[in-house]
Amino acid sequence: MEEVQVKQECGKRDFLGFSHLDGGKIIELFDYSLFIKKKRKEGDPGFLPLRDKTVAMIFSKPSLRTRVSFELGIHELGGYSITLDGQSIGLGTRESVEDVARLLSRYNSAIVARLHEHAIIEGVAKHASIPVVNALTDLSHPCQVLADAFTLYERSLWHENIKVVFVGDGNNVANSWIELAGRLPFHFVLACPEGYTPNQGLLDAAREKGISRIEILHDPVEAATDADVLYTDVWTSMGQEQEKQERLRKFAPFQINSALLAKAKPTAVVMHCMPAHRGEEISAEVMDGPQSIILDEAENRLHVQKALLVKLLNHDEYRKFHLTHRLLNASKKIRY
Ligand code: CP
Ligand code: NVA
Repeated sequence: MEEVQVKQECGKRDFLGFSHLDGGKIIELFDYSLFIKKKRKEGDPGFLPLRDKTVAMIFSKPSLRTRVSFELGIHELGGYSITLDGQSIGLGTRESVEDVARLLSRYNSAIVARLHEHAIIEGVAKHASIPVVNALTDLSHPCQVLADAFTLYERSLWHENIKVVFVGDGNNVANSWIELAGRLPFHFVLACPEGYTPNQGLLDAAREKGISRIEILHDPVEAATDADVLYTDVWTSMGQEQEKQERLRKFAPFQINSALLAKAKPTAVVMHCMPAHRGEEISAEVMDGPQSIILDEAENRLHVQKALLVKLLNHDEYRKFHLTHRLLNASKKIRY
C-alpha cells in the first residue's frame, strides 16, 4: 500500500487510508471533531474555515450518507461543493484519470471520490495537486471507520483493550478497521465465512505494526464472546449484486441478532455503517434496540469529515486549535 507516498513527497495531504496518519494524529482529529460537533450545536455563524474552498466530489457508486454529510459539512464550514457523477464525467473512459485529476486541480481545493478500483483513486491522488479523500473504494472506506472509532471515543469507550468484533464480510469497511488496527491499539476480531477474508496485504501490514491484537475467525459465536462492540455491514457490497443469492446462503450464520448479542458483554454496543438490511446481516430487534448506536455513528460522519477537511484544507486553523487545546488542557481550565 504505497498510495500516499507521492503526496507526502510533494507536501500535499491526502486521505486515502490510514497509512499516513499515526495514532496520535487520529486522536488529534477526534479532539477536533468533538470541537466541530460542539460548534455546530452551539452555532457560530462566523466559523467558516472552508471559506473560498471548493470541493469536487466524484461518485461512481450510489451514496446517501457520504454524499449528504460531505455536501452539508462543506456548506456549513463556508465552502462550496460540486457533485459529479463518475459515469457521466467518464473517469478513465471519456478522459484519462490523469487529465481529470489535473483539470479538477485547476478549479478546486480538494477532490472527494467514491470509486470502484482503489488503483483509480491512487491515480487521481498521484496526478492531482490538491488533497484527495477516499469516500469508499472496493478496497477501503476510511471515512466510515474514522467516524466509527470517533463514536466510541466520544463515549469514552475507546481504550487499548476494547474488543471490536466485525461479523460478516471481509470487505472494504472491514479492511479499514484492519488498517486502523495498524495505527491505534485495540483488539479487532473479524468473524467471516471461509473464503470471505479481508485483504491480505492490509492484514499483514497491520499485523506487522504489532500494536493491536487482530484475529480472523470463522465462528461468530466464538468471536462475539465478551465483545465490547458488535459491528456489521451488508453481505453484498456495491458491485457484487450478481453474488447476492450465494452470499445470502453462506452468510446466514453470521447475522447479528439477540442470540449473538447475548454472547457479548452486557454493556456492548452495536454498530453498522448502513445501509442496513434487517433480517439479513442484522435483525430488526438489534438494529432498533437499546444497544444500537448506529444512527450516532452515521451522524458522526458529518462531524469527522468536517474536521478532516479543515485539517487538509486549512491546516493553520487546525493547528491553532491544537495549540490552544494543549495550552488550555495543560492549565486544566477546559476540556473538549
Ligand atoms: N455508510 C455509507 O458510506 O453510506 P452511503 O453508502 O449511503 O454513503
Ligand atoms: N461494504 C459496503 C459499504 C457501504 C457503505 C459497500 O461497499 O457497498
